Amino acid sequence: MKNEYIPHAAVIEDVRKETFDTKTFRVRFKDTKYANGFEYKQGQFMEISVMGAGEAPISITSSPSRKGFLEFTIRAAGKVTKAIHGLTKGDIIYLRGPYGNSFPFDEIKGKNIYFIAGGIGLAPLRSLINMVFDHRKDFKHIKVLYGAKTPDELCFKDELEAWKKIRDTEVWMTVDRPCDGWGCRIGVVTELWKDTHIHHENAVSIVCGPPIMMKFVTAKLVESGFKDEEIIMTLERYMKCGIGKCGHCNIGEKFVCVDGPVFNYAEARQLPHKENVF
Ligand SMILES: Cc1cc2nc3c(=O)[nH]c(=O)nc-3n(C[C@H](O)[C@H](O)[C@H](O)COP(=O)(O)OP(=O)(O)OC[C@H]3O[C@@H](n4cnc5c(N)ncnc54)[C@H](O)[C@@H]3O)c2cc1C
Ligand code: FES
Repeated sequence: MKNEYIPHAAVIEDVRKETFDTKTFRVRFKDTKYANGFEYKQGQFMEISVMGAGEAPISITSSPSRKGFLEFTIRAAGKVTKAIHGLTKGDIIYLRGPYGNSFPFDEIKGKNIYFIAGGIGLAPLRSLINMVFDHRKDFKHIKVLYGAKTPDELCFKDELEAWKKIRDTEVWMTVDRPCDGWGCRIGVVTELWKDTHIHHENAVSIVCGPPIMMKFVTAKLVESGFKDEEIIMTLERYMKCGIGKCGHCNIGEKFVCVDGPVFNYAEARQLPHKENVF
């Protein structure tokens, strides 16, 4: 019988610095047979552990359409993530999962898609973004709206440039505090509504970022005519087991680890929680 608690060793194959506190790790399972049978969906997360430090839930930022490896973009926030940041190429981490539901994929084919992210919130969306680009002909116009505190805090800078060159794709960026030579907008993500036309017709929006950003972005999307079900987001809560057993992540009757982390706005705004910003 499969034991969902057993982690599997994975070798770090590459480490890329994204920002002063965020790195992207590319890993591969040590056990080739396990690696070959491993499958995941866009928007799912894994529990990553480091011996002696503990484990933390981290979104898979790579795309299921790109096989043979997994990528995680991790901000050094506390004990586990700082321990992961201390590792390098050739070191081992332990993974269990994948857990949680996923972003819709087949259901959004044929639509215009708005990806709207703040800071490290682009990491979970990147899994779906690259999957959409790997099936480009199945989707209509794509816009990526991305904000960070400063230009140095934008993740995936090379990829943002590459996405701009894909047909029928726009990438718009904004920062709170610019540096010399910054050529894009200054201000919060909703300021990007001034740069590009945001229209709900045949469209879906996928949102991830800090709670306050999500609050204002969802309000702006509703104002732009999006129905609650057309606004899809991924939420974070403190987690332990990741499989609906421990009760650490529950909000009312929902467990973010199994019923989420992906919710639409209609579901998210009903979650009875004092931290619910919607
Ligand atoms: C589904 C999901 C996906 C995620 N994806 C990513 C990802 O892709 N990349 C990423 O970098 N992070 C991601 N996170 C967040 C990450 O799991 C947390 O930051 C995690 O707490 C890091 O573990 P740590 O041991 O390094 O830090 P911790 O020791 O947990 O500390 C992190 C911060 O949280 C505070 N904190 C700790 N416990 C509590 C508590 N009970 N109540 C309030 N504050 C507390 C600490 O003071 C510190 O500031 C995700 C979380 C979830 C639930
Ligand atoms: S993390 Fe244990 S129930 Fe969700």
